[in-house]
Amino acid sequence: MDVYEAIMTRHSTRRYLEKKIEESVLLTIIEAGRTAPSGCNNRMTELFVLTDPKEIGKAEKLVSNVLAGREPEEMSYTSSSMNAAIRQAKEGRYQFAYGAPVLVVTANKKRYGNALPDSACVIENMMLMAHALQVGSCWVNQLRWLQEEPAVAAWLYTLGLPEDEFVTGSVAFGYPAVVKEPVRKVLRPFENPVHMLKTRG
Ligand SMILES: Cc1cc2nc3c(=O)[nH]c(=O)nc-3n(C[C@H](O)[C@H](O)[C@H](O)COP(=O)(O)O)c2cc1C
Repeated sequence: MDVYEAIMTRHSTRRYLEKKIEESVLLTIIEAGRTAPSGCNNRMTELFVLTDPKEIGKAEKLVSNVLAGREPEEMSYTSSSMNAAIRQAKEGRYQFAYGAPVLVVTANKKRYGNALPDSACVIENMMLMAHALQVGSCWVNQLRWLQEEPAVAAWLYTLGLPEDEFVTGSVAFGYPAVVKEPVRKVLRPFENPVHMLKTRG
């Protein structure tokens, strides 16, 4: 699969097989993340790779408990997914990692201005590499949303998250339970507006 095909056919996977990801495949995905570009070539994005279903389940339970105690947010760009998560958590059926066998949590220095863009490059590299290896993925942002909640913070500390770092994102990986047709939605004109600027004479 070439890069164009990988980009055009990748999509988020939200149902996974129980099948484990082979170690060599997982290491290749991680290496693709580590090779991502970074500001000043700092390469400071730290990766916490969880492969124990019990530990992933623990994170899901903590997140679900916090969300179940919240009320829906007022409308914002992210409120629809947050409110859907709150609703499902209250109903006791929220699994933010969708039963994936691997969860990679990314973190970066609190005082580093490129923390978020660097980590996004790492995550996108990993998702594309995974896709090229037939592994599904989905960026799941709940640990980033809720990292300051005491129970979530305490769990992150047990993973080894240093005090001077914060969670920048997390990604679920696993073999897809359903292989979707690689069809991309046609982008509407107002999505990701592009301005092809003419040379000014
Ligand atoms: C910063 C970011 C946060 C995201 N958070 C979540 C999430 O918490 N849960 C989820 O199911 N998908 C999440 N996604 C996946 C998006 O919903 C998905 O990429 C988008 O709907 C486009 O679909 P596609 O990935 O299949 O092309 C996130 C994506 C990004 C880039």
